[in-house]
Amino acid sequence: MGLYETYVLPGLTHWVCSHKDLSKQRKKVVPRAKGRVLEVGIGSGLNLPFNVDFIALTGEEIPLENHSADTVLVTYTLCSIPDVKKALKEMNRVLKPGGELIFCEHGKAPDDHIRRWQDRVNPVWTKISGGCHLNRPIPDLIKESGFDIRYLESAYSSPLKIVSFNYWGMAVCG
Ligand SMILES: C[S@@+](CC[C@H](N)C(=O)[O-])C[C@H]1O[C@@H](n2cnc3c(N)ncnc32)[C@H](O)[C@@H]1O
Repeated sequence: MGLYETYVLPGLTHWVCSHKDLSKQRKKVVPRAKGRVLEVGIGSGLNLPFNVDFIALTGEEIPLENHSADTVLVTYTLCSIPDVKKALKEMNRVLKPGGELIFCEHGKAPDDHIRRWQDRVNPVWTKISGGCHLNRPIPDLIKESGFDIRYLESAYSSPLKIVSFNYWGMAVCG
């Protein structure tokens, strides 16, 4: 890791993730987490005030047994995991039958002109943001990884539309 990734990026990520618009989004889903909770991509721990237990790990290889978690929680993390489908399949594997994937993520916007800007800016954005992608189709990725989405909402969370189209909800193993 270079100086930027070591000294600048963690503070920058914390600053961005602490924004009031994102805190408002977290409040909509994080309190739903219950039982044995696995949080993937804990960042600077911004979800901890919601009393969530956590384990630090790499999403693509979760060191837990099959069917060992009641809830998997991901907030603003599926944008950054390099092999996001592999990580989602791991989340599916560790969830108990009937367990819930609770998510709050940003991704691909529904408006053509915003989406075109997301696609244009994404290559540079990914480099400066620690691997974050602006344009991932979050619900499709979740469904393609074996989940059945039971609850889904989406909306822009701020006027800066290319970075703020949010998807939040709950899915269970399909
Ligand atoms: C934008 S931060 C969000 C942090 C936190 N979830 C939040 O809501 O504030 C993205 C997070 O994804 C994590 N991440 C990136 N690649 C990962 C991987 N392969 N497995 C697990 N987490 C990963 C980063 O370490 C970082 O904590």
